Amino acid sequence: MTNVKRDGFGSRFGVLVAVAGSAVGLGNLWRFPYMVGTNGGAAFIILYLFFVVLLCLPIMFSEFIIGRRGEANAFGSIKKLAPKSGWLSIGVISVVTSVAILSFYSVVGGWTLEYIFKSFSPAFLSSDGSSLSSQFSNFSQSSFMPVVMHLLFLGISALIVVAGVKKGIERYSKILMPVLFFLVLLLAIRSLTLEGSGAGVEFLFKPDFSKITGQTALAALGQAFFSLSLGMGCIITYGSYVNKKENLFKISFMSAFADTGFAILAGLAVVPAVFAFGISPSEGPSLVFITLPQVFAQLPFGQIIASAFFFILLIAALTSSISLLEVIVAFCTEELKWSRLNSVLITFIVVGVFGSLSSLSQGILSHVTLFGKTFFDLFDYTSSNILLPVGGLLVVTFVGWRMERSNVLDELTSGGTISLKPILFKAIMFIIKYLSPIAILLVLVHSLL
Ligand code: TRP
Repeated sequence: MTNVKRDGFGSRFGVLVAVAGSAVGLGNLWRFPYMVGTNGGAAFIILYLFFVVLLCLPIMFSEFIIGRRGEANAFGSIKKLAPKSGWLSIGVISVVTSVAILSFYSVVGGWTLEYIFKSFSPAFLSSDGSSLSSQFSNFSQSSFMPVVMHLLFLGISALIVVAGVKKGIERYSKILMPVLFFLVLLLAIRSLTLEGSGAGVEFLFKPDFSKITGQTALAALGQAFFSLSLGMGCIITYGSYVNKKENLFKISFMSAFADTGFAILAGLAVVPAVFAFGISPSEGPSLVFITLPQVFAQLPFGQIIASAFFFILLIAALTSSISLLEVIVAFCTEELKWSRLNSVLITFIVVGVFGSLSSLSQGILSHVTLFGKTFFDLFDYTSSNILLPVGGLLVVTFVGWRMERSNVLDELTSGGTISLKPILFKAIMFIIKYLSPIAILLVLVHSLL
Protein backbone atom coordinates (compact mmCIF):
# COMPACT_ATOMS: atom_id res chain seq x y z
CA MET A 1 0.00 0.00 0.00
CA THR A 2 1.47 3.35 -0.89
CA ASN A 3 0.70 5.92 1.65
CA VAL A 4 1.84 9.39 2.50
CA LYS A 5 1.64 8.76 6.23
CA ARG A 6 3.86 5.69 6.20
CA ASP A 7 6.98 7.58 7.09
CA GLY A 8 7.21 5.98 10.52
CA PHE A 9 9.13 6.67 13.68
CA GLY A 10 12.80 7.39 13.34
CA SER A 11 14.27 5.79 16.42
CA ARG A 12 13.42 3.55 19.31
CA PHE A 13 13.34 6.58 21.54
CA GLY A 14 10.88 8.20 19.16
CA VAL A 15 8.58 5.17 19.33
CA LEU A 16 8.85 5.03 23.08
CA VAL A 17 8.08 8.68 23.51
CA ALA A 18 5.08 8.39 21.22
CA VAL A 19 3.69 5.24 22.84
CA ALA A 20 4.46 6.38 26.37
CA GLY A 21 3.14 9.82 25.44
CA SER A 22 -0.11 8.23 24.37
CA ALA A 23 -0.27 6.10 27.50
CA VAL A 24 0.68 8.70 30.09
CA GLY A 25 -2.03 11.29 30.33
CA LEU A 26 -5.13 12.25 32.23
CA GLY A 27 -5.71 8.54 32.73
CA ASN A 28 -2.80 8.40 35.16
CA LEU A 29 -3.06 11.73 36.90
CA TRP A 30 -6.77 12.41 36.87
CA ARG A 31 -8.58 9.09 36.40
CA PHE A 32 -6.38 6.65 38.32
CA PRO A 33 -6.50 8.46 41.70
CA TYR A 34 -10.25 8.86 41.62
CA MET A 35 -10.83 5.29 40.44
CA VAL A 36 -8.68 4.08 43.33
CA GLY A 37 -10.68 6.35 45.61
CA THR A 38 -14.09 5.17 44.47
CA ASN A 39 -13.17 1.50 44.20
CA GLY A 40 -11.74 0.72 47.57
CA GLY A 41 -8.01 1.54 47.45
CA ALA A 42 -5.30 -1.10 47.73
CA ALA A 43 -7.40 -4.05 46.53
CA PHE A 44 -8.16 -2.13 43.36
CA ILE A 45 -4.46 -1.34 42.84
CA ILE A 46 -3.47 -4.99 43.22
CA LEU A 47 -6.06 -6.07 40.69
CA TYR A 48 -4.93 -3.28 38.42
CA LEU A 49 -1.28 -4.42 38.52
CA PHE A 50 -2.34 -8.00 37.97
CA PHE A 51 -4.31 -7.01 34.86
CA VAL A 52 -1.46 -4.91 33.49
CA VAL A 53 0.92 -7.85 33.58
CA LEU A 54 -1.42 -10.67 32.68
CA LEU A 55 -3.68 -9.01 30.16
CA CYS A 56 -2.40 -5.67 29.03
CA LEU A 57 1.09 -6.70 28.04
CA PRO A 58 -0.16 -9.53 25.76
CA ILE A 59 -2.71 -7.17 24.27
CA MET A 60 -0.05 -4.57 23.69
CA PHE A 61 2.15 -7.09 21.81
CA SER A 62 -0.91 -8.18 19.88
CA GLU A 63 -1.80 -4.66 18.81
CA PHE A 64 1.80 -3.96 17.79
CA ILE A 65 1.90 -7.21 15.83
CA ILE A 66 -1.30 -6.41 13.94
CA GLY A 67 -0.23 -2.85 13.19
CA ARG A 68 3.31 -3.56 12.09
CA ARG A 69 2.17 -6.50 9.97
CA GLY A 70 -0.83 -4.70 8.53
CA GLU A 71 1.02 -1.42 7.94
CA ALA A 72 -2.14 0.65 8.14
CA ASN A 73 -4.76 2.13 10.45
CA ALA A 74 -6.65 -0.34 12.67
CA PHE A 75 -9.35 -1.06 10.10
CA GLY A 76 -6.89 -1.21 7.19
CA SER A 77 -4.49 -3.51 9.05
CA ILE A 78 -7.22 -6.01 9.82
CA LYS A 79 -8.53 -5.73 6.26
CA LYS A 80 -5.10 -6.66 4.97
CA LEU A 81 -4.65 -9.60 7.34
CA ALA A 82 -8.22 -10.94 7.20
CA PRO A 83 -10.07 -9.43 4.24
CA LYS A 84 -13.86 -9.31 4.27
CA SER A 85 -14.27 -10.93 7.65
CA GLY A 86 -16.14 -10.17 10.83
CA TRP A 87 -12.80 -9.19 12.34
CA LEU A 88 -13.18 -5.86 10.63
CA SER A 89 -15.42 -5.01 13.56
CA ILE A 90 -12.16 -4.30 15.43
CA GLY A 91 -11.61 -1.43 13.02
CA VAL A 92 -15.13 -0.13 13.48
CA ILE A 93 -14.94 -0.36 17.28
CA SER A 94 -11.67 1.56 17.19
CA VAL A 95 -13.25 4.59 15.54
CA VAL A 96 -16.39 4.54 17.69
CA THR A 97 -14.39 4.15 20.91
CA SER A 98 -12.02 6.90 19.95
CA VAL A 99 -14.92 9.32 19.47
CA ALA A 100 -16.46 8.22 22.78
CA ILE A 101 -13.22 8.67 24.74
CA LEU A 102 -12.39 12.01 23.16
CA SER A 103 -15.88 13.21 24.04
CA PHE A 104 -15.07 13.26 27.73
CA TYR A 105 -11.27 13.38 27.55
CA SER A 106 -11.23 16.74 25.86
CA VAL A 107 -13.65 18.09 28.46
CA VAL A 108 -11.18 17.20 31.20
CA GLY A 109 -8.43 18.58 28.97
CA GLY A 110 -10.45 21.81 28.99
CA TRP A 111 -10.61 21.77 32.80
CA THR A 112 -6.82 21.45 32.82
CA LEU A 113 -6.52 24.49 30.57
CA GLU A 114 -8.80 26.49 32.85
CA TYR A 115 -6.68 25.50 35.85
CA ILE A 116 -3.54 26.79 34.15
CA PHE A 117 -5.22 30.20 33.99
CA LYS A 118 -6.63 29.89 37.51
CA SER A 119 -3.23 29.05 38.93
CA PHE A 120 -1.92 32.50 37.97
CA SER A 121 -4.24 34.17 40.44
CA PRO A 122 -2.71 34.47 43.93
CA ALA A 123 -6.14 33.85 45.48
CA PHE A 124 -6.17 30.36 44.01
CA LEU A 125 -3.73 28.81 46.46
CA SER A 126 -4.93 30.65 49.51
CA SER A 127 -8.34 29.03 49.14
CA ASP A 128 -9.25 26.34 51.60
CA GLY A 129 -10.63 22.92 50.73
CA SER A 130 -14.28 23.76 50.68
CA SER A 131 -13.83 26.88 48.60
CA LEU A 132 -11.62 24.95 46.16
CA SER A 133 -14.31 22.37 45.91
CA SER A 134 -17.03 24.94 45.27
CA GLN A 135 -14.75 26.77 42.83
CA PHE A 136 -14.41 23.57 40.87
CA SER A 137 -18.10 22.75 40.84
CA ASN A 138 -19.08 26.33 39.98
CA PHE A 139 -16.73 26.22 37.03
CA SER A 140 -17.43 22.71 35.76
CA GLN A 141 -21.19 23.08 36.11
CA SER A 142 -21.40 26.35 34.24
CA SER A 143 -22.45 26.27 30.60
CA PHE A 144 -20.09 28.56 28.79
CA MET A 145 -16.43 28.46 29.83
CA PRO A 146 -16.04 24.68 30.13
CA VAL A 147 -17.44 24.25 26.63
CA VAL A 148 -15.08 26.91 25.30
CA MET A 149 -12.12 25.31 27.05
CA HIS A 150 -13.12 21.89 25.75
CA LEU A 151 -13.23 23.22 22.19
CA LEU A 152 -9.91 24.96 22.72
CA PHE A 153 -8.27 21.78 23.94
CA LEU A 154 -9.74 19.80 21.07
CA GLY A 155 -8.70 22.53 18.64
CA ILE A 156 -5.08 22.43 19.82
CA SER A 157 -5.04 18.63 19.48
CA ALA A 158 -6.54 18.95 16.00
CA LEU A 159 -3.92 21.48 14.92
CA ILE A 160 -1.11 19.23 16.07
CA VAL A 161 -2.57 16.27 14.22
CA VAL A 162 -2.95 18.31 11.03
CA ALA A 163 0.59 19.59 11.30
CA GLY A 164 2.03 16.15 11.94
CA VAL A 165 2.95 14.70 15.24
CA LYS A 166 6.56 13.76 14.82
CA LYS A 167 8.48 16.99 14.82
CA GLY A 168 6.49 19.08 17.24
CA ILE A 169 4.99 17.36 20.18
CA GLU A 170 7.44 14.48 20.30
CA ARG A 171 10.41 16.73 20.53
CA TYR A 172 8.86 18.55 23.46
CA SER A 173 7.56 15.39 25.09
CA LYS A 174 11.10 14.13 25.44
CA ILE A 175 11.85 17.04 27.75
CA LEU A 176 8.47 17.61 29.36
CA MET A 177 7.65 14.04 30.35
CA PRO A 178 10.68 13.69 32.63
CA VAL A 179 9.91 17.13 34.09
CA LEU A 180 6.34 16.04 34.77
CA PHE A 181 7.68 12.95 36.47
CA PHE A 182 9.84 15.00 38.83
CA LEU A 183 7.01 17.37 39.61
CA VAL A 184 4.67 14.53 40.47
CA LEU A 185 7.46 12.98 42.55
CA LEU A 186 7.81 16.25 44.44
CA LEU A 187 4.06 16.39 45.01
CA ALA A 188 4.07 12.79 46.20
CA ILE A 189 6.81 13.54 48.73
CA ARG A 190 4.95 16.59 50.04
CA SER A 191 1.68 14.73 50.15
CA LEU A 192 3.26 11.83 52.04
CA THR A 193 4.78 14.14 54.64
CA LEU A 194 1.54 15.97 55.40
CA GLU A 195 0.12 15.42 58.82
CA GLY A 196 -2.61 12.82 58.67
CA SER A 197 -1.43 11.31 55.40
CA GLY A 198 -0.86 7.91 57.05
CA ALA A 199 -4.47 6.89 56.57
CA GLY A 200 -4.04 7.56 52.87
CA VAL A 201 -0.95 5.36 52.66
CA GLU A 202 -2.87 2.62 54.38
CA PHE A 203 -5.75 3.10 51.97
CA LEU A 204 -3.31 2.69 49.06
CA PHE A 205 -1.34 -0.27 50.33
CA LYS A 206 -3.37 -2.27 52.80
CA PRO A 207 -5.78 -4.31 50.76
CA ASP A 208 -9.22 -5.17 51.97
CA PHE A 209 -10.15 -7.97 49.60
CA SER A 210 -13.75 -7.92 50.68
CA LYS A 211 -13.95 -4.72 48.60
CA ILE A 212 -13.43 -6.66 45.39
CA THR A 213 -16.66 -7.13 43.51
CA GLY A 214 -17.41 -7.80 39.86
CA GLN A 215 -17.76 -4.07 39.40
CA THR A 216 -14.39 -3.20 40.96
CA ALA A 217 -12.70 -5.88 38.87
CA LEU A 218 -14.25 -4.44 35.73
CA ALA A 219 -13.27 -0.94 36.81
CA ALA A 220 -9.65 -2.08 37.33
CA LEU A 221 -9.61 -3.82 33.97
CA GLY A 222 -11.12 -0.80 32.22
CA GLN A 223 -8.66 1.53 33.93
CA ALA A 224 -5.70 -0.66 32.89
CA PHE A 225 -6.83 -0.63 29.26
CA PHE A 226 -7.54 3.06 29.39
CA SER A 227 -4.24 3.99 30.93
CA LEU A 228 -2.20 1.89 28.51
CA SER A 229 -4.21 3.09 25.49
CA LEU A 230 -5.29 -0.44 24.67
CA GLY A 231 -8.33 -2.10 23.17
CA MET A 232 -9.17 0.36 20.44
CA GLY A 233 -6.51 0.23 17.80
CA CYS A 234 -4.39 3.08 19.08
CA ILE A 235 -1.34 0.85 19.42
CA ILE A 236 -2.27 -0.87 16.13
CA THR A 237 -2.10 2.52 14.45
CA TYR A 238 1.16 3.49 16.16
CA GLY A 239 2.50 -0.02 15.53
CA SER A 240 2.08 0.55 11.82
CA TYR A 241 4.65 3.34 12.08
CA VAL A 242 7.20 1.20 13.90
CA ASN A 243 10.39 0.14 12.17
CA LYS A 244 10.56 -3.54 11.19
CA LYS A 245 13.68 -4.14 13.27
CA GLU A 246 12.32 -2.72 16.50
CA ASN A 247 11.86 -5.11 19.41
CA LEU A 248 8.14 -5.09 20.17
CA PHE A 249 8.62 -6.75 23.55
CA LYS A 250 10.97 -4.11 24.76
CA ILE A 251 8.79 -1.22 23.68
CA SER A 252 5.74 -2.80 25.28
CA PHE A 253 7.51 -3.50 28.57
CA MET A 254 9.05 -0.09 28.78
CA SER A 255 5.84 1.77 27.97
CA ALA A 256 3.78 -0.30 30.38
CA PHE A 257 6.39 0.19 33.09
CA ALA A 258 6.57 3.95 32.61
CA ASP A 259 2.80 4.27 32.53
CA THR A 260 2.26 2.19 35.65
CA GLY A 261 4.99 4.07 37.49
CA PHE A 262 3.28 7.34 36.66
CA ALA A 263 -0.08 6.06 37.86
CA ILE A 264 1.24 4.82 41.20
CA LEU A 265 3.13 8.04 41.74
CA ALA A 266 -0.01 10.04 40.96
CA GLY A 267 -1.85 7.91 43.50
CA LEU A 268 0.83 8.76 46.07
CA ALA A 269 0.60 12.44 45.25
CA VAL A 270 -3.18 12.61 45.53
CA VAL A 271 -4.53 10.03 47.96
CA PRO A 272 -2.48 10.78 51.13
CA ALA A 273 -3.37 14.46 50.65
CA VAL A 274 -7.03 13.50 50.30
CA PHE A 275 -6.90 11.98 53.76
CA ALA A 276 -4.76 14.71 55.26
CA PHE A 277 -7.23 17.39 54.15
CA GLY A 278 -10.28 15.37 55.13
CA ILE A 279 -11.68 15.08 51.62
CA SER A 280 -13.66 11.99 50.65
CA PRO A 281 -11.59 9.69 48.41
CA SER A 282 -14.76 8.83 46.53
CA GLU A 283 -15.21 12.43 45.43
CA GLY A 284 -15.00 11.31 41.78
CA PRO A 285 -13.73 13.18 38.72
CA SER A 286 -13.18 16.43 40.61
CA LEU A 287 -10.67 14.84 43.00
CA VAL A 288 -7.32 16.04 41.61
CA PHE A 289 -8.65 19.50 40.89
CA ILE A 290 -9.50 19.92 44.57
CA THR A 291 -6.69 18.10 46.36
CA LEU A 292 -3.65 19.06 44.35
CA PRO A 293 -4.12 22.82 44.74
CA GLN A 294 -4.07 22.22 48.48
CA VAL A 295 -0.79 20.35 48.19
CA PHE A 296 0.62 23.15 46.05
CA ALA A 297 -0.30 25.62 48.78
CA GLN A 298 1.91 23.64 51.18
CA LEU A 299 4.99 23.97 48.99
CA PRO A 300 7.50 26.77 48.66
CA PHE A 301 6.94 28.48 45.30
CA GLY A 302 3.58 26.69 45.27
CA GLN A 303 2.10 28.99 42.72
CA ILE A 304 4.88 28.48 40.19
CA ILE A 305 4.73 24.74 40.76
CA ALA A 306 0.96 24.78 40.31
CA SER A 307 1.20 26.58 36.97
CA ALA A 308 4.00 24.30 35.82
CA PHE A 309 2.06 21.24 36.89
CA PHE A 310 -1.14 22.09 35.05
CA PHE A 311 0.83 23.17 32.01
CA ILE A 312 2.71 19.89 31.83
CA LEU A 313 -0.47 17.95 32.58
CA LEU A 314 -1.91 19.70 29.56
CA ILE A 315 1.01 18.49 27.45
CA ALA A 316 0.56 14.94 28.76
CA ALA A 317 -3.14 15.15 27.93
CA LEU A 318 -2.35 16.45 24.46
CA THR A 319 0.10 13.65 23.62
CA SER A 320 -2.73 11.27 24.52
CA SER A 321 -5.57 13.07 22.78
CA ILE A 322 -3.58 13.30 19.56
CA SER A 323 -3.10 9.54 19.63
CA LEU A 324 -6.87 9.15 19.92
CA LEU A 325 -7.44 11.61 17.10
CA GLU A 326 -4.82 9.89 14.97
CA VAL A 327 -6.83 6.64 15.12
CA ILE A 328 -9.83 8.36 13.54
CA VAL A 329 -7.82 10.47 11.13
CA ALA A 330 -5.73 7.51 9.90
CA PHE A 331 -9.00 5.67 9.25
CA CYS A 332 -10.59 8.57 7.36
CA THR A 333 -7.53 9.29 5.22
CA GLU A 334 -6.63 5.69 4.39
CA GLU A 335 -10.03 4.04 4.18
CA LEU A 336 -12.35 6.84 3.14
CA LYS A 337 -9.62 8.67 1.19
CA TRP A 338 -10.50 12.02 2.73
CA SER A 339 -7.78 14.61 2.93
CA ARG A 340 -6.01 14.90 6.26
CA LEU A 341 -7.43 18.36 6.80
CA ASN A 342 -11.03 17.31 6.11
CA SER A 343 -10.65 14.25 8.32
CA VAL A 344 -9.45 16.37 11.22
CA LEU A 345 -12.12 18.98 10.63
CA ILE A 346 -14.98 16.51 10.59
CA THR A 347 -13.64 14.73 13.67
CA PHE A 348 -13.37 18.09 15.40
CA ILE A 349 -17.01 18.85 14.65
CA VAL A 350 -18.32 15.46 15.75
CA VAL A 351 -16.29 15.34 18.97
CA GLY A 352 -16.96 19.04 19.49
CA VAL A 353 -20.69 18.34 19.66
CA PHE A 354 -20.52 15.17 21.79
CA GLY A 355 -17.93 16.74 24.07
CA SER A 356 -20.11 19.82 24.58
CA LEU A 357 -22.97 17.54 25.58
CA SER A 358 -20.77 15.78 28.11
CA SER A 359 -19.50 19.12 29.42
CA LEU A 360 -23.05 20.44 29.81
CA SER A 361 -24.07 17.22 31.51
CA GLN A 362 -22.06 18.43 34.51
CA GLY A 363 -24.54 21.30 34.86
CA ILE A 364 -27.71 22.16 32.96
CA LEU A 365 -27.97 18.75 31.30
CA SER A 366 -27.32 16.81 34.48
CA HIS A 367 -30.91 15.58 34.53
CA VAL A 368 -30.59 14.04 31.05
CA THR A 369 -29.59 10.45 31.60
CA LEU A 370 -29.31 7.31 29.54
CA PHE A 371 -29.16 3.98 31.40
CA GLY A 372 -29.01 6.10 34.56
CA LYS A 373 -25.85 7.90 33.46
CA THR A 374 -25.20 11.46 32.32
CA PHE A 375 -23.49 11.97 28.95
CA PHE A 376 -20.11 12.42 30.61
CA ASP A 377 -20.41 9.26 32.68
CA LEU A 378 -21.88 7.37 29.78
CA PHE A 379 -18.93 8.13 27.49
CA ASP A 380 -16.48 7.42 30.29
CA TYR A 381 -18.12 4.22 31.54
CA THR A 382 -19.04 2.66 28.21
CA SER A 383 -15.70 3.26 26.60
CA SER A 384 -13.51 2.03 29.45
CA ASN A 385 -15.69 -0.68 30.87
CA ILE A 386 -17.27 -2.11 27.76
CA LEU A 387 -15.72 -0.99 24.46
CA LEU A 388 -12.04 -1.29 25.47
CA PRO A 389 -12.34 -4.75 27.06
CA VAL A 390 -14.38 -6.01 24.10
CA GLY A 391 -11.86 -4.50 21.69
CA GLY A 392 -8.97 -6.06 23.63
CA LEU A 393 -10.74 -9.40 23.62
CA LEU A 394 -11.14 -9.25 19.84
CA VAL A 395 -7.51 -8.22 19.37
CA VAL A 396 -5.99 -11.11 21.33
CA THR A 397 -8.44 -13.58 19.82
CA PHE A 398 -7.50 -12.34 16.37
CA VAL A 399 -3.76 -12.74 16.95
CA GLY A 400 -4.22 -16.04 18.79
CA TRP A 401 -6.68 -17.75 16.48
CA ARG A 402 -6.84 -16.01 13.14
CA MET A 403 -3.35 -14.78 12.29
CA GLU A 404 -0.79 -17.17 10.84
CA ARG A 405 1.38 -18.41 13.68
CA SER A 406 4.46 -17.92 11.54
CA ASN A 407 3.57 -14.25 11.00
CA VAL A 408 3.15 -13.73 14.72
CA LEU A 409 6.55 -15.33 15.33
CA ASP A 410 8.06 -13.25 12.57
CA GLU A 411 6.80 -10.04 14.22
CA LEU A 412 7.81 -11.07 17.73
CA THR A 413 11.33 -11.83 16.54
CA SER A 414 11.42 -8.87 14.13
CA GLY A 415 11.96 -11.10 11.12
CA GLY A 416 14.17 -13.54 12.97
CA THR A 417 16.69 -10.96 14.16
CA ILE A 418 15.75 -11.34 17.82
CA SER A 419 16.13 -14.75 19.39
CA LEU A 420 13.08 -16.14 21.11
CA LYS A 421 13.20 -19.53 22.80
CA PRO A 422 10.51 -21.86 21.37
CA ILE A 423 9.21 -22.52 24.86
CA LEU A 424 8.79 -18.80 25.47
CA PHE A 425 6.93 -18.40 22.20
CA LYS A 426 4.65 -21.28 23.17
CA ALA A 427 3.98 -19.64 26.52
CA ILE A 428 3.15 -16.32 24.89
CA MET A 429 0.83 -18.00 22.42
CA PHE A 430 -0.86 -19.84 25.25
CA ILE A 431 -1.50 -16.58 27.08
CA ILE A 432 -2.76 -14.87 23.94
CA LYS A 433 -4.93 -17.77 22.83
CA TYR A 434 -6.47 -18.88 26.09
CA LEU A 435 -5.53 -17.01 29.21
CA SER A 436 -6.15 -13.41 28.16
CA PRO A 437 -9.45 -13.94 26.33
CA ILE A 438 -10.86 -16.14 29.08
CA ALA A 439 -9.81 -13.71 31.79
CA ILE A 440 -11.37 -10.76 30.00
CA LEU A 441 -14.55 -12.72 29.38
CA LEU A 442 -14.73 -13.75 33.02
CA VAL A 443 -14.42 -10.17 34.23
CA LEU A 444 -16.98 -8.94 31.70
CA VAL A 445 -19.49 -11.67 32.48
CA HIS A 446 -18.94 -11.48 36.21
CA SER A 447 -19.61 -7.77 36.29
CA LEU A 448 -22.90 -8.25 34.50
CA LEU A 449 -24.17 -10.71 37.07
N1 TRP B 1 -3.93 6.43 27.89
C1 TRP B 1 -4.30 7.79 27.85
C2 TRP B 1 -4.33 8.31 29.28
O1 TRP B 1 -4.03 7.61 30.18
C3 TRP B 1 -5.61 8.01 27.13
C4 TRP B 1 -5.62 7.36 25.81
C5 TRP B 1 -4.89 7.69 24.72
C6 TRP B 1 -6.33 6.19 25.47
N2 TRP B 1 -5.13 6.82 23.71
C7 TRP B 1 -5.99 5.89 24.14
C8 TRP B 1 -7.20 5.40 26.17
C9 TRP B 1 -6.52 4.75 23.55
C10 TRP B 1 -7.73 4.28 25.56
C11 TRP B 1 -7.39 3.94 24.26
O2 TRP B 1 -4.63 9.44 29.51
